[in-house]
Amino acid sequence: MIKNIYVIGGFAAIAGLLFGFDIGSNSGVILTPQYKNFFNSPDEVLQGGINSSLSAGCLVGALISGYPADKIGRKMSIIIAAFIFMVGALIQALSNGVAMLIAGRVLAGLSVGLTSMLVPLYQSELAPPNIRGRLVAIQQWAITWGICIAFWIQYGCSKIDGEAAFRIPYGVQGIPALILFVGMWFFPRSPRWLMDQDREEEALKVLASIHGDGDVNHPDVQNEYNKIKEAIRFDHEVAVRSYLELFKHGMFKRVFLGVSLQMWQQLTGMNIIMFYAVYLFQHAGIQGVDANLVASGINYIVNVVMTVPAILFVDRWGRRGTLMAGSALMATFLFIVGGVMGGVGKPGFEGGQAIWDMQGNEAATKAVISMVYLFVAAFASTWGPVGWIYPAEIFPTRIRAKAIALCTASNWLFNWLLSFVVPILMVRIQYGLYLLFGAFNFLMTVHVYLQFPETKGRSLEEMEEIFSKGFNPRTGKFKDGYVTESLKEKNKAEIA
Ligand code: BGC
Repeated sequence: MIKNIYVIGGFAAIAGLLFGFDIGSNSGVILTPQYKNFFNSPDEVLQGGINSSLSAGCLVGALISGYPADKIGRKMSIIIAAFIFMVGALIQALSNGVAMLIAGRVLAGLSVGLTSMLVPLYQSELAPPNIRGRLVAIQQWAITWGICIAFWIQYGCSKIDGEAAFRIPYGVQGIPALILFVGMWFFPRSPRWLMDQDREEEALKVLASIHGDGDVNHPDVQNEYNKIKEAIRFDHEVAVRSYLELFKHGMFKRVFLGVSLQMWQQLTGMNIIMFYAVYLFQHAGIQGVDANLVASGINYIVNVVMTVPAILFVDRWGRRGTLMAGSALMATFLFIVGGVMGGVGKPGFEGGQAIWDMQGNEAATKAVISMVYLFVAAFASTWGPVGWIYPAEIFPTRIRAKAIALCTASNWLFNWLLSFVVPILMVRIQYGLYLLFGAFNFLMTVHVYLQFPETKGRSLEEMEEIFSKGFNPRTGKFKDGYVTESLKEKNKAEIA
C-alpha cells in the first residue's frame, strides 16, 4: 500500500489529465478532412451534439457520484470510473459512425463527471489540511496539461493520411485512465469512509500507515482518529444524509454562491475557445487547416503557462479581487473581439459551411488572435483555479461532499449547454456571441463584488461566522462591529 501523502495527493494529476483530455478531445480533429470525410461533415447542430454528448455524460456522472462514493467507497468508485473511461476511449477509437462516437463520448464523460467530484473528496479525506488548497490548484493545472496534450496529439496525427488521424487521439486518452485504474489498487481506502462503515480497525491501520509509520499508538494517529470518530458521531447524530440540508436557512446562501460561481466559470466563455478555437480563428480570417491548428494550439500552451501564477500567488491575491480582475479583463477582451469582428467582417461561406468572413484584413485578424490569447491568460490565472477553490472552502465538513457534487453538476450543466449551443450561435449570431459573453463577464464581476465574501486565510469556524453574523462582503466588515473568535484570540495573543 502506498503511504506517502504527497504521492497519494499527486495522484490527482492523473484524474485532472482525464478531465483535460475530455475537454480537449475533439478541438483538433473537427476541422481535418480525415474526420469530416469519415463522419460525413457533421453540420453545426450535429457537431454540437457530438461535442456536448461528453459534457452531458459528465453532468450525469457528477450528479450520481455521491451514491457510489458512499455505497462502495471512494477508492472502488474511482477504479470503476477509470475503467469506464477506458471503455469510452476504446469505443471512440473504434467508432464506425456518429452514433458509436457519441456512445463512447457519453461513457468517457460519465467517468470524468464521477472523478471530478470523487478524487478531490478522496484526497481531502486523506491529506492534511495544509496541502488541500494547493492540490486543487494543481488539479486545475493538470486539467490544462490534459487539454494541451490532447490537442497537440491531435495536431501531430492530423498529418497522418486516413482514419488513424482521429482514431489514435481518441484511443490515447485511455492511457492515463489505465494508469489510474491500475495505480488506485495500491492506494488505501479513505479512513473516513471506513469509519462511516463501522470498519474502525481498518481505518486506524490506514491512518497509522500514512501519518504514523505504522504505529497505531502514535499521538498524531490517535488525535486524527479521535477527531474523525467525533465528526462521524456528530454526522450520525444530526443525520445529515439528505440533500434537503443544503436548502436550509444559513446553508442556502452558500449553495447559491457555489453553484452560481461554477455557472459563471462556464459563462466566462473559456470553453468557446477550448472547444471551438479552430472555428473562431477560421471566422477571424486565418486560412488553411494547418495555420489554424497552430494558432489555436497556442491557446492551450498559454493556458498551461498562465495557471502557474495562480498556483503560486492565489493565496496572496485572495479570491474576490482575483475573480473581479479576471472577469473585468475577460469582458474587455471579448468586447474588442466582437467589436473588431463586427466592424470589419461580413457573412460568408467556406467549404460549404457558413462562416463569418474577415479574410484579407490581416491587422484585424491579428488583433482578434491577440485578444483571444489575452483572454485565455486572464482565465487561466483567475477563474480557472478559483472556480474550483472557492466552493471547496465555504461548506462545513458534514455536507461538503453533497454540496460540492451540486456545484460540480452546475459546472457540467453549463459546460454541456455551451458545447451544444456555441457552434450554433457562431453561425447564427456570429460576432454577437463574443459581445454576449462579454456581457456575462461584466455581470459576474458585479455579482462577485456584491455578494462574495473573501475567504483567503480564513478558518472554517470563521466561515460559519461570515455566513451567519451579517458580514458585508463589500466592506469586509461585520455588522454592529462584531469581531470573529479567531481575531479575538489573535488580539489577545498580540497583547500578551
Ligand atoms: C473548467 C473547464 C475548462 C478548463 C480550462 C476548468 O476549470 O472547468 O471547463 O475547460 O478549466 O482550463
